[in-house]
Amino acid sequence: EGGGHVTNFQFPFEGPFGKYDQAQLQRGLQVFTELCSACHGIPRVPFRSLADPGGPSLSEEAMIQYTEQWEIFDPELEDWRTAKPTDHFPEGTDAQAPDLSLMAKARAGFHGPGGTGLNQLLNGMGGPEYIASYLLAFTDEWKEEAGSVYYENPVFSTGWSAMAPVLYGEDVEYADGAPNDRVSIAKDVSAFLMWTAEPKMMARKQAGFISVIFLTVLTVLLYLTNKRLWAPIK
Ligand code: HEM
Repeated sequence: EGGGHVTNFQFPFEGPFGKYDQAQLQRGLQVFTELCSACHGIPRVPFRSLADPGGPSLSEEAMIQYTEQWEIFDPELEDWRTAKPTDHFPEGTDAQAPDLSLMAKARAGFHGPGGTGLNQLLNGMGGPEYIASYLLAFTDEWKEEAGSVYYENPVFSTGWSAMAPVLYGEDVEYADGAPNDRVSIAKDVSAFLMWTAEPKMMARKQAGFISVIFLTVLTVLLYLTNKRLWAPIK
């Protein structure tokens, strides 16, 4: 019971040269908006970041238009108002539903072999794979315990989750006409949640790549310098 099998879904941002797929992140944003935000918040994510490079990269106008669909409680006004790009997404409306901003980094999909976590070296931590697998793992079983309802989910740690299944297929109609079967929707929203958890992944990989090139060039130069310095002595 619990901690069941996580599918190693393929994501375009995997590996040293992987990149977020802008269209996929936009679809994931749509799924989050239409389905998940009924309960969950992503309060660490500022609306303006939706227009940042390396993310869903909405145009400035599209980002503003999207933001203005949201109502935010302003503690200074002590009232609700239309969201501004500098605001963050709100907290969830369901106190039991966790903040999803960093969930893709808070969960691991791969633990083996033998609990060593070694295959994370090859496959990554598996955060987005965990989320997609969790969304797809609900069985039809549910139970009531101490007045709460729990739904059977073999991927969830305890095997029974307080979240009801949300994906049945064709749950959203994508603006870009992309496939909207359950697996595609689960992957798209998981990719989006990877971006919310690591919005600078593209910049990080690029910096890493440039560092490796720099160190390679430096190594060659130092080797040649070394040869030359010691040449008269040999
Ligand atoms: C938990 C994702 C929709 C209510 C979770 C978790 C994730 C998640 C990743 C954490 C699982 C864990 O702790 O390992 C999503 C996504 C959704 C979605 C991506 C949209 C596709 C909803 C909706 C509701 C909801 C619509 C309310 C009707 C909850 C609750 C929990 C939860 C109550 C806590 C479960 C527990 O700890 O037993 N969700 N969720 N979620 N979600 Fe959702």
